Amino acid sequence: MSVLNNKKLKGVYMPPGDKSISHRVIILGSQAVGKSSVTNLSESEDVLNTVKVMKQLGSNIKKIDGKYIIFGLPPGTLFEPKKELNFGNSGTSIRLITGLLSTNNIKTKLVGDKSLSSRPMKRVTEHLKRIGAVFILKKNNFLPMTIKGSANPIPLNYEISIPSAQIKSAVMLSALNTLGKVTIKEFSSTRDHTERMLKTMNYNILFKEKKEFRYITMNNDKELNSLNYKVAGDPSSAAFMITAASLKIGSKIKVKNMLYNPTRIGFLLTLKKMGANIEIKNKRIVHNEVIADIFVHQKKQLKSVIVEANEVPQQIDEIPILSIAASFAKGETIFKDLKELTVKESNRLDLIYQNLKKMGVDCFIKNYDLHIIGNNNLKAGGAKIIHNFDHRIVMSFYIANMICSKNNIIIDKSCVKTSYPQFFKDFNTLIK
Ligand code: S3P
Repeated sequence: MSVLNNKKLKGVYMPPGDKSISHRVIILGSQAVGKSSVTNLSESEDVLNTVKVMKQLGSNIKKIDGKYIIFGLPPGTLFEPKKELNFGNSGTSIRLITGLLSTNNIKTKLVGDKSLSSRPMKRVTEHLKRIGAVFILKKNNFLPMTIKGSANPIPLNYEISIPSAQIKSAVMLSALNTLGKVTIKEFSSTRDHTERMLKTMNYNILFKEKKEFRYITMNNDKELNSLNYKVAGDPSSAAFMITAASLKIGSKIKVKNMLYNPTRIGFLLTLKKMGANIEIKNKRIVHNEVIADIFVHQKKQLKSVIVEANEVPQQIDEIPILSIAASFAKGETIFKDLKELTVKESNRLDLIYQNLKKMGVDCFIKNYDLHIIGNNNLKAGGAKIIHNFDHRIVMSFYIANMICSKNNIIIDKSCVKTSYPQFFKDFNTLIK
């Protein structure tokens, strides 16, 4: 592989289908009576795990002529699977489906790979226990997990203090099979695709934001309508190309059909503050989600930025690639309160720090704040990247080659398939 430090990004790019929405469309489509059809589904390994598990639970899902067809059944009618459910690497699949299982009167055993087995589950089960579901976990927090769903689920009021869309969505999915009104108070605004999709399905849901809180009310008195859904492009995948283009003066790319949901585009605001020349065009609303085309035409070097704690949930998955931008931006960047980053597919905060250091970047962590002292000079590079098979760490430090004198060494890049199987193909098409 040649060094990428004298390259730019140029051309038109269509990001793959959004992963968060793809999980939800498979799960919610399975809860709607009748036939749903989905185009542009993310075919990442994570989403394919959701498809596989929902099939084990009785959903009829087929891929016909590139479209996913789902024949759903009403909430509360999942089948008891013959075998354990294996979620591979996917935190979103397991946490969301745990919500669904908690109000289905069946017994299931849930397992995952090494990374998923070290991630906390109690953050979800502590809420779902209240409904009457029974959970058995290793050390009360980790996989393997056995669930006996509640036979008589009661509607409750919830307060969710950890900023996590997975926890919120698990509670929302559990509510689909309770009789009555469920309310949720969320302490910070996390991605709201479950809310928006339920509204698209004509479900009785209200959600609003007031000060820093989000309030959700679900009234379980209507069936879910089936869906005919086209999944928009994934901003978390596009973030790699958009950031790479912003790093190099002269880059010019057009990103078509990208999800532009306010809870997902924090990274665009951060890059703009850093001096990225980004324009948003053709904003439109499809299936209650905002979609847009993004133009990047980079004309100057980036400068540092401060990302406040309350801005982190809107760019939680983009911090690894933004840390690369910060390394090449003049001045001290601070990403505040990255505690949630320590419980992702890997301890991302630690891996970002260690790999940046190895690459020759001046950085440190203080109380979960990540400080990066950047400049517009090429870094030494040549670092053997520690990625612990975390897809976003691999993609970020591959792009870091654009700001290094020597290529970094990344052994086994296959884990990119977790979220973005065609990452290298798409990147190579744009690099000029
Ligand atoms: C996701 C929520 C986020 C995010 C993950 C996808 C989702 O996780 O990091 O990649 O689709 O709900 P948390 O809810 O743990 O923050």
